[in-house]
Amino acid sequence: MKHLLGTKDLNKKQMEAILGGAQYWAEHPKKQSDLLYGRFIANLFFEASTRTRFSFEVAEKRLGAHVLNFSETDSSTKKGETIYDTLRTLESMGVETAVIRTGYDGLFKELIAQKNLQMNLVNAGEGTMEHPTQCLLDMLTMQQQFGGLQGLKVAIIGDLRHSRVCSSHLHALPKMGAEIMIAGPATFMCEKDTLPNGVHMVEMDEAITTADVVMMLRVQLERHSGMLFPSREEYHKQFGLTLERATMMKKNAIIMHPAPFNRGVEIDGKLVESKQSVIFPQVANGVAVRMAVLEGVMTGEMIGGANQWEPSLKMANC
Ligand code: CP
Repeated sequence: MKHLLGTKDLNKKQMEAILGGAQYWAEHPKKQSDLLYGRFIANLFFEASTRTRFSFEVAEKRLGAHVLNFSETDSSTKKGETIYDTLRTLESMGVETAVIRTGYDGLFKELIAQKNLQMNLVNAGEGTMEHPTQCLLDMLTMQQQFGGLQGLKVAIIGDLRHSRVCSSHLHALPKMGAEIMIAGPATFMCEKDTLPNGVHMVEMDEAITTADVVMMLRVQLERHSGMLFPSREEYHKQFGLTLERATMMKKNAIIMHPAPFNRGVEIDGKLVESKQSVIFPQVANGVAVRMAVLEGVMTGEMIGGANQWEPSLKMANC
C-alpha cells in the first residue's frame, strides 16, 4: 500500500524524485498520457477547494484515469456513514486511489491504522496538519526560479499557526537544504518548541529584506475561534506585504502565496500579479506535481524522474 500522507514521511531523495517527475510534466503542459488508463481515482473533498480539487482532476485526466468526484452533501455520509466505510465501499467497486481533503486533524493516521483498507491515499489538505502537494508545488516553483533549493532563504509570513502549508514546509524545506524564517503576529505564531532546528523567528523587516522567497499565508478566518487581530486594515499595515514593504525585497526575490489570497489583508492586491509574483505559476505547477504524485503512488515509477525514482523508496510505505 502506497500513500502520500505528508512531507514528514518523505526523505530528500523521494522529494527530488517527485520534483523530477513534476518538472517533466511542467515542461510538457499539453501532454496527455495513458499511464493510468482505465484505473479509477476518487476525489473526496470534505472542505472547500478550487486549486487542489481541480488540479487533481486535471492531473488524473491527463494521465488517462477515470475520475469520480465525491459530493459530501449527496452521499451516505449524510446518513452517518464514516469516511472509512465510504472508502471501503469505493474500494469494493474497484476504486484504487482516494484523494482526500479533510478538516479533521489525524484522519490519515486513523485510516492507515485500518489494515483492511488497501487503497492508495493521497492527502489533499488535512486540517492544520499537512498539505504535502502544495508544499511540493511550492518547492518546484522555487527550484524553477533559483535552479535549486540548497541555501535558499524562505520567509513564511502570516497565519502560521493555522497553516497546514507551513507545517509541510517546516518538514520539507530543511531536508532540501533551504533555510526558513517565520514572521507574523504573536497570536498566529507556531509554538517555539515545535519548530525544527534551523527555523528562525524574525521581525517582519528582516524577513522581507533578507529572503529569496517571501511566502505570504492567508489569514484563515474559518479556523479562528475568536478575533485574533484588530482589523483587516491594521493587519495589512503591520503584517501584510504592502507596496512599501515589497520595495524592500531583494531585487531577484519572489513573492509566493498558496492562495486563495485576501487582497488588501496579507498582500496588496497589486502585488498578486506583479513582476515578482509567481502565484499563478504556482497554480500551474500544481497540475504537474499532482501528476507526478499520482504516477508515483499508483505505478511506483515516474516518466521524468525515472532516473531518480527507486521503487524501494516509494512514498510512505504502510
Ligand atoms: N492552495 C489551496 O489549497 O487552494 P484550494 O483551497 O483552492 O485548493
